[in-house]
Amino acid sequence: MDIDKIRSETPGLSHGIHMLACGSALPSQSVVDAVVEFTQLESRIGGYEAHTQESTMLDATYDSVARLVGAQRHEIALVENATVAWCQVFYTLPLKAGDRIITCQAEYAANYVAFLHRQKKDGIEIDVVPNDEAGALDITALDALITDRTALIAITWVPTNGGLVNPAAKVGAIAAKHQIPYLLDACQAVGQMPVDVTTLKCDFLSATGRKFLRGPRGTGFLYIKEKWLERLEPVMLDHFSAPLEDSSLYSLRSDARRFETWENNYALRAGLKVACDYAMVLGLEKIQSRAWGLAASLREKLLGLPGTTIMDLGAEHCAIVSFTIDGLDPVETVALLRQKGISIGVTTPASTKLDAERRHLPVMLRAAPHYFNNEDDLDALIRALKDML
Ligand SMILES: Cc1ncc(COP(=O)(O)O)c(C=O)c1O
Repeated sequence: MDIDKIRSETPGLSHGIHMLACGSALPSQSVVDAVVEFTQLESRIGGYEAHTQESTMLDATYDSVARLVGAQRHEIALVENATVAWCQVFYTLPLKAGDRIITCQAEYAANYVAFLHRQKKDGIEIDVVPNDEAGALDITALDALITDRTALIAITWVPTNGGLVNPAAKVGAIAAKHQIPYLLDACQAVGQMPVDVTTLKCDFLSATGRKFLRGPRGTGFLYIKEKWLERLEPVMLDHFSAPLEDSSLYSLRSDARRFETWENNYALRAGLKVACDYAMVLGLEKIQSRAWGLAASLREKLLGLPGTTIMDLGAEHCAIVSFTIDGLDPVETVALLRQKGISIGVTTPASTKLDAERRHLPVMLRAAPHYFNNEDDLDALIRALKDML
């Protein structure tokens, strides 16, 4: 990786140190240009005209997203965020009273709220897989939890609150063995590591553009395995997802875009395409190795500070580092670091409620170095934290 080149292509780095890719990463100049140029084109010739003029490029966004996750373009729907992608498929699945959903301790709170919602509305039941000794989803326990009433496995691959990497592909193998639909929240995984829906054996995958992928905010996508496309009638339809044949009949689109609606932010889609292509050109293995390596180095350096506890679960750690430092209030610390031009964040118990309750988690500090960061960035963070102690 040509880190100097990558850094020179990241305008935000001239304004400070940014290590919050798990929140919203700094985009490359090319992503910014794509969004701005499309917006300017819209302002010059009109939104509909810009759409028509650039339809080939915009259409190719589906190819770029599909390539990123090893899918086919007709299996991709583009939506405004990961939650909408996830909810579109979750609320569409025909779950009925007595059906059981299996999820994990690290499940993202938004998904868990939706489980509770369908529990209230439809009478479904929720099973939570215990963790293994290292703190990742326990594969043996998952297998043992499955009954003939299990109707869905829905887990989070990488949680919002730390470096845990759940064994998503092993979960997929079990789901396939039992022929249970598998919905994978890959929101924090996409852009920091290779993602391949065939290896994962997932039926549905949701993700966002703005995090490790370095795309614009307000972008997300849903993958739906081909075999499901004809079977699922989205919970919400319009004349894009289901064009009218006549005044009494609509016919659903045959591709995943039956989960989209007519109006969209095409400037952001242009940016998302560039972000996908940028990551693919760099190579997701290389991105993973660099970002995970920096995160490992940060964990080591943090442990040199008195009173620091690394809170990441699992035997394998990704590019999200969660930690506490005795005597430092996380929210104040983030604000003070921001004044020094260093961006990291906090993670609150509310965003991963099951894990937070089980581990009695406080508000924690959360840093996510990406491949464009370097050891100097890590050292600057450590120095700044040391000054606060
Ligand atoms: C694991 C996980 N899933 C889902 C989401 C929701 O993504 P979005 O905000 O794009 O809807 C997040 C956001 O932080 C997340 O961390």
